[in-house]
Amino acid sequence: MNNKFYITTPIYYPSDKLHIGHTYCTVATDAMARYKRLRGYDVMFLTGTDEHGQKIENKAAEAGVTPQQFVDNIVEGEKGVKDLWKLMNVSYDRFIRTTDDYHVAAIQRIFKKMYENGDIYKSTYKGKYCTPCESFWTESQLTDGCCPDCGRPVVDAEEEAYFFRLSKYADRIRDLLENTDFLLPRSRVNEMVHNFIEPGLEDLCVSRTSFKWGVPVDFDDKHVVYVWIDALFNYTTALGFLNDRYDDSDYAKYWPADVHFVGKEIVRFHSIIWPAMLMSMNMPLPKHVFGHGWLLLDGGKMSKSKGNVVDPYLLAERYSADALRYFLLRDFPFGSDGNFSNELLINRINTDLANDIGNLLSRTTAMAEKYFGGTLPAEQTEGTEDAELISMVSKLRGQYEAQMEKYAFQSALADVFAVIARANKYIDETAPWVLAKKPETMPRLARVLYNLAETVRICSILLSPVMPETCVKIFEKIGADENARTWESAETFGVLPVNAVLVKGENLFPRIDAAKEIAELEAISQAKKAADQPKEEKPTLPVREITDHEPEISFDDFCKVELRVAKITACENIKESKKLLKLTVFDGERERCIMSGIAKWYKPDMLVGKNVGIVCNLAPRAMMGGKYVSEGMIFAADTEKGAASIAFFPDDTVGSRIH
Ligand code: MSP
Repeated sequence: MNNKFYITTPIYYPSDKLHIGHTYCTVATDAMARYKRLRGYDVMFLTGTDEHGQKIENKAAEAGVTPQQFVDNIVEGEKGVKDLWKLMNVSYDRFIRTTDDYHVAAIQRIFKKMYENGDIYKSTYKGKYCTPCESFWTESQLTDGCCPDCGRPVVDAEEEAYFFRLSKYADRIRDLLENTDFLLPRSRVNEMVHNFIEPGLEDLCVSRTSFKWGVPVDFDDKHVVYVWIDALFNYTTALGFLNDRYDDSDYAKYWPADVHFVGKEIVRFHSIIWPAMLMSMNMPLPKHVFGHGWLLLDGGKMSKSKGNVVDPYLLAERYSADALRYFLLRDFPFGSDGNFSNELLINRINTDLANDIGNLLSRTTAMAEKYFGGTLPAEQTEGTEDAELISMVSKLRGQYEAQMEKYAFQSALADVFAVIARANKYIDETAPWVLAKKPETMPRLARVLYNLAETVRICSILLSPVMPETCVKIFEKIGADENARTWESAETFGVLPVNAVLVKGENLFPRIDAAKEIAELEAISQAKKAADQPKEEKPTLPVREITDHEPEISFDDFCKVELRVAKITACENIKESKKLLKLTVFDGERERCIMSGIAKWYKPDMLVGKNVGIVCNLAPRAMMGGKYVSEGMIFAADTEKGAASIAFFPDDTVGSRIH
């Protein structure tokens, strides 16, 4: 069969739960796959997860689990990657995990082939490495000394490593980029040529020894294969290339891919490194790589570490997967960046789904029920208002197709909704409620409703790749049988059987109270942010065994000890003892002498002028054979190492009691 279509998403890192940005790319890929299936293509739609690398190894260590347990949980666990795609109605044909045995074995074979053909060789790597992105950079590629992709600091890295002869392919890659439509949209070509090809392509370091969580190089198992080689070849191993998990006739049938959808930040890998490696392996190149834009939040990239990711689960559960899918593809031009906001989402649902298509459908079916019991009579009369609507609807499939073939989802959907708006206007022009008043205009009324149902049918066929569940409901409401749901039938106005049964039923998309909803979403997001904040950890104090507790005393007894703040006015060492200092302190009333065993830790000039706590009413004690009389003690605690540490008080406390 010649009309096969092979489309892929990037394989996502299961280092965190996926967010709306990942969902955006997957939904676009799904819509394209469904569109091609609708058109009769034999589609292979591949997605999956990129599970190796240092970042995952680190994350697993932080979580106290093995890397395999960590990724299993994010991919297969509750509300994990697979659950999300199920919720979003993603119709992938195959899901690859790079930890799957067949993939690992195939990567080892691929690496060896390139080694054997001389395109991979051993040398020493010296350079800058961005750990979160798993990317090596040359000095000249850094932005302000940081990783040009994510802006985070890079580290110096030096290790024995294998290299891929990327430089050898520079001319062929340049030709591919500049002289073919391999990389789309065209605007991405300049960026690649200017930033990467013109400065000179250097050979690429393709193995690591600094961590273990990867595919081991089987002929030198100190090394693991660079995660991007492991990742990029997923597009072929998932078809059975060099492995026995899948029949390699899938590879023969589907490779080369028709298009890889990827975010703009990984265009470099897909449009330079990927084709060069395929050239080295003598494999055909994918027909297109499409670099889509980012969904931004407040103008910046969403990231888990910034705490500003939008949760697709929440939105799909609240508004339905179809509403979210439609919004993502209708609001943002696929090739450029767009700013996500809850306001945009809710407005889009209210205007296009609740109002435009929702109203068109409910008015059409309600009037068919009200005036004809749900089945239109065969006797129908044409009118002057019909021609323009019918002509517009008849051209729609062609326009839509032209846009979809350019991956311009936004324009394709805009075309469909222009027809829906026209049909709503047609209701106002023909005023069915007036036609319903006289028996002689009933045939005209029947025709008007038929034309409306037919418009809804054709629009629904074209919307079905984007809103699959909703469109099935619409087909049911207008009584469109299987023949009236096909791509072919969307070209012809008048396919809906005249005796189709129309039923109103429930509204497809109830109107949302925007202000209330936005406030609620904001509250949920704030609560989540607060819950995600790392809890402030209480410092845990070392517990020690205390063996010199005193018996309990009464409060009155405690009050008998007169504790006061006193200022040290003079201090000196004495020749009779190395341990003792002779302190003169002023207790607010008079000066007194205190002999203290702190000479080892304090020099006299460290103490003069300082205010210390003293016990005032301790009986005076003669020391050094009566040469000195100590009239009190000063507060000092033993440190862990057994030194003395004196507590000091502020000036305005001198003479005060200490309680
Ligand atoms: N594992 C690599 C891809 C290997 S493909 C052989 C990777 N993974 S990722 O988890 O970081 O996913 C990146 C992809 O997710 C982007 O290329 C893009 O398709 C999508 N997006 C992630 N954040 C996004 C936005 N904020 N906006 C739009 N798409 C985003 O890179």
